[in-house]
Amino acid sequence: SWQYSLRPHYLKEYIGQQKVKQNLEVFIQAAKLRQEALDHVLLYGPPGLGKTTMAGIIANELGVNLRITSGPAIERPGDLAALLTNLQERDLLFIDEIHRLSHSVEEVLYAAMEDYALDIVIGKGPSARSVRIDLPPFTLVGATTQVGRLAPPLRDRFGVICRLEFYRPEELVLIIKRTADILNVEIDDAGALEVARRSRGTPRIANRLLKRVRDFAQVAGEQTISSALAGKALDRLEVDACGLDRTDRRVLQVIIEKFGGGPVGLDTIAAAISESVDAVEDVYEPFLMQLGFLNRTPRGRVVTEAAYAHLGLPSPSEGKGSS
Ligand code: ADE
Repeated sequence: SWQYSLRPHYLKEYIGQQKVKQNLEVFIQAAKLRQEALDHVLLYGPPGLGKTTMAGIIANELGVNLRITSGPAIERPGDLAALLTNLQERDLLFIDEIHRLSHSVEEVLYAAMEDYALDIVIGKGPSARSVRIDLPPFTLVGATTQVGRLAPPLRDRFGVICRLEFYRPEELVLIIKRTADILNVEIDDAGALEVARRSRGTPRIANRLLKRVRDFAQVAGEQTISSALAGKALDRLEVDACGLDRTDRRVLQVIIEKFGGGPVGLDTIAAAISESVDAVEDVYEPFLMQLGFLNRTPRGRVVTEAAYAHLGLPSPSEGKGSS
């Protein structure tokens, strides 16, 4: 699909994540020289930073087939067995949201990763027996938003563990220009920087905002996306100068207005803004913490002075000082 064509296909086209790229390049090259399957790779970090893209690139660089699935999609051990027995030697199996695998599937995965073998129990009760099926050597690439949620035995079976980080604005500028080229839309340097600054350090968001800004430009009859046009369009989308959207601001506002700035528990925040706990923890909090607007403490989440300042609200400590 057109979305897929925005993704880079090889490491040299992939912008940012320098450390991850440099290390993977070595491990891929070494596996190819030995004509072996690449060791299993775990990619973790907030959504939208390129975990799926990277899995595709690893497969392309290795010259092997890519099979894509996700933790919730593999409901039973038999589903996993079907996937694994259909792999060819050295193929790459990508499991997104790998922290959401069921225990019974996880158990089967351990032996598959470690010994390239499947231990399947056939039958029930006294006649049940276990059979071992050999698998071709393969590479598992797992992705998760939270490495802490992985069962330690699963995490320990990955030979390569990579953390993807938020992108710097200069890197997002390059990604936005690359996407603009592919979409055949003109954007000047300042325009690209304006979109980059408001993209929460996240290529997926940068590419989405670029498409929406392009819509505003097209309807306004503008040939080139300037910083003024990008700024106006993003204001209309309620994406502020730091890249916070309405939900990001609601997270901060609810902690301030209903819970005195915190500490307050994650579940309470999620309920107060009618979002899932997973969304608050995986999507909203990481970027708010990166900006220094939110801290996690043992007693719950607290907003910072910077958050009050950003929202234009008086902070409690200022109040103490002046009265
Ligand atoms: N598109 C999305 N993420 C990208 C990246 N890291 N490099 C190049 N293009 C991208």
